[in-house]
Amino acid sequence: MTASPRRREAPGERYVVIGATGQLGSDLVRTFDRSGELTPLGPRDIDILDAAATRSILNALQPTCVINTAADNLVDRAEEDGRSAFALNADAVGSLAAICQSIGARLVHFSTDYVFDGSQRTPYLETDPPRPLSVYAESKLAGERLALERCERTVIFRVCGLFGLAGSLGKGKGNFVETMLRLAREGRPLRVVSDQVLCPSYTLDLARKIWRVLPKTVHPIYHLTNAGQTSWYDFARRALELTGTAADLTPVTAAEYGAKARRPAYSVLAHAHLAALGEDDLRPWDAALTAYVAERSSSR
Ligand SMILES: NC(=O)c1ccc[n+]([C@@H]2O[C@H](COP(=O)([O-])OP(=O)(O)OC[C@H]3O[C@@H](n4cnc5c(N)ncnc54)[C@H](OP(=O)(O)O)[C@@H]3O)[C@@H](O)[C@H]2O)c1
Repeated sequence: MTASPRRREAPGERYVVIGATGQLGSDLVRTFDRSGELTPLGPRDIDILDAAATRSILNALQPTCVINTAADNLVDRAEEDGRSAFALNADAVGSLAAICQSIGARLVHFSTDYVFDGSQRTPYLETDPPRPLSVYAESKLAGERLALERCERTVIFRVCGLFGLAGSLGKGKGNFVETMLRLAREGRPLRVVSDQVLCPSYTLDLARKIWRVLPKTVHPIYHLTNAGQTSWYDFARRALELTGTAADLTPVTAAEYGAKARRPAYSVLAHAHLAALGEDDLRPWDAALTAYVAERSSSR
């Protein structure tokens, strides 16, 4: 990853994308279409766990908008030891927010559907009260709160079930679709949870929407996902079907699966704040998954 800025037609805004080699970060970089310039910062360019170094990098760049996609998303590992999740998802976000405040930059930060407890059966609004079930979700909620407390120009996008090209290229930690396809190719039986409902989302679609709505955001929190809902089991089944991958796939309940971390049984997000900006929903997750499957095949 190079830290050289990409220029666009007009001067003005200076965007920095942190986590620029990740799923969402790399799609934000490649879909950048705003005026001004964007500096992508991958993990070799910046470590936001080091607050002093982060301050000096951002002081030098003087961004007007810092977009932070870096996170510790290892949900089950956090249940055993939450220190690295809290360090990156909460403490580092708090430091970043304070730096943004001091240099007059906006902070754009990302959170998760897992801040909700899943007791509802209708999509969660941005204003619904969060109640995290896991250490990971607690760390992400703490990050939201620190970001909002320490930088008055923070905007948070809560996203869900991400799949994106960087997850398929072996550069990052992968994603659910790639894990299912790999295990199927290895001939491993797949037991996938069928009683947790979410809306899987394509980072390319999210990135395009983020660039479109950033200039006009008025609320501190936005829910942003593809449209519709499905279970992890049906999501896996569809990914296998679309890629023509044979698999021994069995639905199981969350209780039977027995993951270390509790996850919400229902975490579909309503997009009320985007609708208030006059923004349409993104395409349904199934169409997005179809596009992802085509994109990952053509990138091989
Ligand atoms: N993935 C999901 O399904 C999901 C669901 C809900 C919410 N979210 C949220 O959405 C956002 C984007 O997720 P994603 O899936 O795009 O993440 P990702 O693919 O894991 O990308 C994260 C990026 O941040 C980098 N990074 C890690 N530690 C860092 C550090 N200390 N300093 C600077 N950079 C660091 C990573 O580098 P390395 O790869 O070298 O570690 C990677 O480039 C996150 O806030 C996440 O919590 C994700």
